This record gives sequence, structure tokens and C-alpha cells, in this order.
Amino acid sequence: MRRPIIAGNWKMYKTIADALELANGLKRELYAIEGVDIVIAPGFTLLDEISDVIAGSNINLGAQNAHWEAEGAFTGEASVAQLKELDVKYIIIGHSERRQFFGETNEGVNKRIKAVLSGGLIPIMCVGENLSQREKGNTFSVVQDHLRGGLEGIEKEEAKDIIFAYEPVWAIGTGKTATPAEAQEVHGFIRKKLAEIYDNDTAQSMRIQYGGSVKPDNIEDLIKQEDIDGALVGGASLKVDSFSEIVKKSVG
Ligand code: PGA
Repeated sequence: MRRPIIAGNWKMYKTIADALELANGLKRELYAIEGVDIVIAPGFTLLDEISDVIAGSNINLGAQNAHWEAEGAFTGEASVAQLKELDVKYIIIGHSERRQFFGETNEGVNKRIKAVLSGGLIPIMCVGENLSQREKGNTFSVVQDHLRGGLEGIEKEEAKDIIFAYEPVWAIGTGKTATPAEAQEVHGFIRKKLAEIYDNDTAQSMRIQYGGSVKPDNIEDLIKQEDIDGALVGGASLKVDSFSEIVKKSVG
């Protein structure tokens, strides 16, 4: 049985005061919840303060990216070691907004994933097609390309901890969710590819989140799908009520 994992991607939202209010509210709402891994991924400037607030709770800290080098002249980036110092445990890598607006490539994603793993943290590796790729019938080839490129040279023993997030770009922040059946179809494909790249047991143990307009009213139908093991939530993770409800509904 794969344990569900719900992660909130706060993107470039919230100042410190607002972020503290949100984190404290989530702690109050979620302290008794068991059977699900809960992650929040605030922006870099918020990590230190949020880390203190959630220390010792059932909410884990995530970051939204990390560079592959240990240190160096890389303006605007943060290293795995710098994030680890703040008790970050999960790092989102290859989010479609990174790919689309900041030129992130499979090669960069692959290097970042390797750095996260060798630092002992857990990558949340995002894959997914955009609207024109879907309309041209290229969903599976794009997803396969993201998987193969991102996982290049990563052995099974290391890869088993990676969390995958299937995020159809056309469903992110648009209010359009893939139907549970559409999402399941791609999740099943991802698991099949992971079995080809690694082996069936490894693929069966890996967790695959769905992301793209996840809300309290669609999480239950999504999480019921055989190969959907959680959610990567953007907009609805910015409010105590909606994120808590999503977490609670993911464990029934
Ligand atoms: P959304 O974002 O829930 O606002 O669609 C999801 C994501 O980008 O991770």
C-alpha cells in the first residue's frame, strides 16, 4: 500500500506575516491527521521562519527548486546544502513553470534530481504535457521524454525515493482538471514506464502525485484512482481551509 502524499506548492505567494498565519493555521487543523505525508513548499525567503513553526509537527518542509552544484557563482539559485540547513526535506524539481518560463531542460532536471538525492533529500519530479502537445496526441511521448531524461543515470536504489508529480500544464491554475480517468490513464503509463526503467516492484512502490487545479471537491475522485497516490496543489494550498480539507479527504 502506498502512503498518500499531499504537497502544497506556494509558488511566489505570501509575505512572511501571511505565510506564518497560513502555516500556524495548517498546524492547528492538521495536527491529528495520520496516514498521509503532508508537505508545504513556501518560497525561499519564507523557509527559515516556516521551518521553525512546523518543527516537530506532522507537516514537512519542501522547497521549490535547488541547484545541482554544492556552491558557486550561480546568482539566484539555492543549493541542496543551503536548503538542508533549514530542515527542508522535499524539493520540487522540473515544475512546468520552471520549464516554461525559466528554460529548465531535462538535462538540468536530471542534474538537480541527482544533487537532491545525493544530499539525502527527496525530489518531487514534475512531468506533464502542455495543451498543444495533448491536442497533437503527444501526451505519452512528452511524459516518457521527461521521465527518461530526468532519470538518466539514476540507479534503482536511489530512484526508489523519488516522488513523481504528473501535472498536465493545461490544468495548472486554469480551473480545468484532467478527469480522474484522464489522469489515471497517464499515471498508469508513468508506472509502466518506471517498471521498464527500473522493475515492477520498484515501480509499484513509487508514489505518483497528480497536480493541476486540485481542489477539495475533486481530490476524492482523483485519489481513488489506482495509480494516483496524492496531489501537488498550487492555488488551493494557499488557504488553510482548502488545503486542510484536501489533506483530510486524501485519507478518507
Ligand atoms: P494549481 O497548481 O493547483 O494552482 O493548478 C498546481 C501546481 O502548479 O503545482
